[in-house]
Amino acid sequence: MALTARVVVDAMTPDDVLAVHEIERLSFAVPWPPHAFEQELRGNRLARYLVARAGGSVVGFAGIWLMVDDAHVTTFGVHPDWRRQGIGRQLMLNLAELSIAIGARQMTLEVRVSNQGAQALYRSFGFEVVGQRPRYYTDDGEDALVMTTPPLADARMRAVLDAERRRQAE
Ligand SMILES: CC(C)(COP(=O)(O)OP(=O)(O)OC[C@H]1O[C@@H](n2cnc3c(N)ncnc32)[C@H](O)[C@@H]1OP(=O)(O)O)[C@@H](O)C(=O)NCCC(=O)NCCS
Repeated sequence: MALTARVVVDAMTPDDVLAVHEIERLSFAVPWPPHAFEQELRGNRLARYLVARAGGSVVGFAGIWLMVDDAHVTTFGVHPDWRRQGIGRQLMLNLAELSIAIGARQMTLEVRVSNQGAQALYRSFGFEVVGQRPRYYTDDGEDALVMTTPPLADARMRAVLDAERRRQAE
C-alpha cells in the first residue's frame, strides 16, 4: 500500500500492543504474545519500545534493551502492507538516536542468515557481522548472524546517522 500519511515515530504505549502483536504475527514464525509486550512496557526498566504511526495506525515497531553499554535490538518489524517505503529506516534512525540518548556505546542485534533484506537495512546503518550463533532460532534451527555498529560516538557512525537524517528530511 502506498503511504499517503506522514509517518511519525513515537514511544510504544500499552494501547499499541494489539496492533504491534498483529504485525509480529504477520512477520515472525514465533511472535511474542501481547502480554510479553505489556510486561516489557510496564516492568522492564532497561527496555525501550517505539512504534511508527501513519494516519493513526501502527505500521511498524522496534525495541531495545540497554545491556550495560550495549543497545540490543530485541524486535523490529514493519507491517507487510507498508514495507519498502522507508519506515524501517525511520525506525532504525530513531532507535539509534534513542540508544545514544540513553547512553549506549553501540548497538547489537541478531538476524536470520537468510534475512537479506533486514541485513541490507542494518548494513546501511553501519552494522557489521561480528559472529554467528548456530541454530539460534528455535522454530527451524536457522543460524543467526550477530551484527554490531561501531561506537555510536565515532565519526564514522555520526556520519552515517547524519546522512540518514538528511535523506529522511528530503
Ligand atoms: C526488515 C524490515 C523491518 C524492513 O522494513 P521496511 O520498512 O521495508 O524497510 P525500508 O523500506 O526502510 O528499507 C530500507 C532498506 O532496507 C533494505 N531492504 C529492506 N527490505 C528489503 C528486501 N525485502 N530486500 C532487499 N532489501 C531490503 C533496502 O536496502 C532498503 O533500502 P531501499 O528501499 O532504499 O533499497 C521489514 O522487511 C520487516 O518487517 N520484515 C519482517 C520482520 C523482520 O525480518 N524483522 C527483522 C528481524 S532481525
